[in-house]
Amino acid sequence: MTNEFNSMANAKRCLNNSDFKIKKGFLWGTASAAYQVEGCVNEDGRGQSIWDYYLNDKQLGGLGVTGDVAINFYDRNQYLQDIQLLKKLKINCYRFSISWPRIIPDGLGPVNMKAVEHYRQLIKDLKAAGISALITLYHWDMPLALANNGGWENRDSIDWFNYYANIIFIHFSDLAQDFVLINEPTVEVAQNILAKRYLAGNFEDTSLPIIATSETMEVSLKCYNHILLAAAKAKESFRAAGYKGRLGLALPLSPVLTDTNATEADKADAIIADGVLNRWFLDAIYKGQYPEDIVSLASKMNLAIDVQPEDAKTIYNAHFEFLGINYYAPNFVRHGKGSGYNPESYIPEGQEAAYNGAVRPDQLTALLDRIRTEYGNPTIIITENGAGFPGEDQLVNGKIEDTKRSNYIQAHIEAMIVSMQNGSNIDGYMIWSSHDNLEWFSGYKSRFGIIYVDWNTQKRTLKQSANLYSKIIQEKK
Ligand code: NOJ
Repeated sequence: MTNEFNSMANAKRCLNNSDFKIKKGFLWGTASAAYQVEGCVNEDGRGQSIWDYYLNDKQLGGLGVTGDVAINFYDRNQYLQDIQLLKKLKINCYRFSISWPRIIPDGLGPVNMKAVEHYRQLIKDLKAAGISALITLYHWDMPLALANNGGWENRDSIDWFNYYANIIFIHFSDLAQDFVLINEPTVEVAQNILAKRYLAGNFEDTSLPIIATSETMEVSLKCYNHILLAAAKAKESFRAAGYKGRLGLALPLSPVLTDTNATEADKADAIIADGVLNRWFLDAIYKGQYPEDIVSLASKMNLAIDVQPEDAKTIYNAHFEFLGINYYAPNFVRHGKGSGYNPESYIPEGQEAAYNGAVRPDQLTALLDRIRTEYGNPTIIITENGAGFPGEDQLVNGKIEDTKRSNYIQAHIEAMIVSMQNGSNIDGYMIWSSHDNLEWFSGYKSRFGIIYVDWNTQKRTLKQSANLYSKIIQEKK
């Protein structure tokens, strides 16, 4: 766990090394999520989600920041043009999420067939352009009625999700084979914690508590356990019904790093942070047990995390076909205020950073290598990787020269290839995101797309990074 590194130079050198051939059928894609792109929130009988409440009712993203319009991707006239852009770039896979409150407006009741038809048409339209669908069932837009009933803190959420997942399998498994069941549990839980703080009037602490601290540990571990069990139960239903396909979760795994002059307290916090961010999930999925150090810490702290003796085994027995990894940055951790476990995230001085943290492609290689060596070399799909940089996306004479994003993408693809050369089993790579879109609490200013969206006109413009990605895909295919 040190902070030494040099990425870009190595990365560029590697990409030019053409000896290594990526396997046929590799998924070169982009990713998105329903509430971040769809807009059309009142079309076809959509129900309310927790995000309508946060952003419309409570204005937690700032005045007027909502997903009501977003990039208008629910509109077929619009998305058909977008699909043509993806096709032009030679992208062969599109990861998108289905909106639970569109399919089942109140979360658990009757199915809304208009929404089913919409997504079936979308998948067919993608297919017609030679693009396969990687479908996320759940990307944070929990139906409001269920969120009001405790959301993931309620153990019944395992059954709620299983009910919804079965509806999705019934209506879509003839058209698609790959399903991401649930996206980024740690980040979703952190966002709900932050929203609660805001709703209690605390607008001072704006940082997203992605790494559980002593204060947030109980609710975090409880939700993570329910989320993993929900995914496992859905996987079991899929298998029992005899559908053919591949299922997994998308986890925001992230190496936890300390500085070279870290204190014992820094190092101790880093080990626990790695436990709650990474090992909690990986150990359950691939070893059938939750990490001993975290379980005993929770018990020392007397936390009610609702982990039953057989839970981790149930998760292991699901045997997910792939591991989705959303990688943006490592987590630099040092001991924060007070005694006991209290990690604080920081960016070391001199370290280049993007919106989502330190730019460290070397840590993607390290993460992938760790999973191969410590967790039995599972099939991996990089379900998200990408970046946004303040002030980077300027439209000048009809062009956007997003050099930092281009370098970031190139370096991370290289870093992935290095790990493939080391033996990692990677089946796909998705950029977050195809288009600029709504970034949860931070709105429309933080652009992550390789396609620029003009918020006044909805006009799309390919950025330099889109052309670079296209070139890489063609060279590596
Ligand atoms: C991960 C999330 O899955 C996605 O919704 C978000 O927009 C990106 N990270 C960028 O922060």
